[in-house]
Amino acid sequence: MKPTTVCSFLLALVLATTSTIAQPTKSTGSNPPLFLLAGDSTTATQSSNGGGWGDGFLNTTLHHGASGINYGVNGRTTVSYRAGGYWATVLASVAASLETSTTPYVTIQFGHNDQKASANISIVEYTTNLEQFVADVRTAGGTPILVTPLSRRGYENSTGTPKVVEDLADQRAATIAAAEATGSTWIDLNEASTQYLNAIGEADAWTYNLNPTDETHLNVEGSVVFGGLVALLIEGALSELKAEGYVRVKKELEKALEEGKYYWP
Ligand SMILES: *[C@@H]1O[C@H](CO)[C@@H](O)[C@H](O)[C@H]1NC(C)=O
Ligand SMILES: *[C@@H]1O[C@H](CO)[C@@H](O)[C@H](O)[C@H]1NC(C)=O
Ligand SMILES: *[C@@H]1O[C@H](CO)[C@@H](O)[C@H](O)[C@H]1NC(C)=O
Repeated sequence: MKPTTVCSFLLALVLATTSTIAQPTKSTGSNPPLFLLAGDSTTATQSSNGGGWGDGFLNTTLHHGASGINYGVNGRTTVSYRAGGYWATVLASVAASLETSTTPYVTIQFGHNDQKASANISIVEYTTNLEQFVADVRTAGGTPILVTPLSRRGYENSTGTPKVVEDLADQRAATIAAAEATGSTWIDLNEASTQYLNAIGEADAWTYNLNPTDETHLNVEGSVVFGGLVALLIEGALSELKAEGYVRVKKELEKALEEGKYYWP
């Protein structure tokens, strides 16, 4: 893929997302944002069997008093995250955020475990569960951001051009449908990460693997790269966060993501 394709792709994505929500630019006032990250292991802190984009996003892209908490939990679905009490913790954190004069945003990203046959969660249930998460965040006083699931790094070569296997397409579509049904802000991490992985290729993509054969979870460097991608998408969807300097990606990483070039932090 030519670098310009990725660049215009990211731009188009950002424009589509902002026009979909059609929200006026709001000010966060004097209260810096607090990002509460709800999700599965592809959001969670790096551990022996999990690790996603969350810590890279929190560690490297937030400025001027913006902060956040990674509530990603390995192996969770939209059902087991609520049943296990993790969602209640996120909502309590939204309420606490309002008390401490921060502006709470909740990113919501599931799908990797919901899609497993053993989870027995239909696409309709998955969509409804995401819509309920959005409603709960709003009731608690926060702003939800639905996130389509991070791409895995498995490749296939049936057309003679190695491409990422797009095995989360149904979950991506359902996440967007849930956002449109509720008027929630959303970002298309699935599409953006797929495009980036296709641009850099399998050998470079695998350097972000948690361990050599783990195509799903990210190591610390992968977390920084894909955390940066999430930050760019959030900046595009919620322009006030960029305008006020709260979310900012290091120039070299921003350029690499926009041009589809490999980056090692
Ligand atoms: C985030 O920061 C913590 C604390 O410094 C560090 O242990 C961890 O490796 C960092 N993770 C990422 C993904 O940047
Ligand atoms: C799967 O879920 C459906 C609908 O909730 C239920 O009727 C069915 O018994 C479940 N199947 C298994 C194997 O748990
Ligand atoms: C993909 O397929 C093409 C054409 O069959 C082949 O030339 C190329 O080496 C393959 N690449 C990989 C990474 O398998």
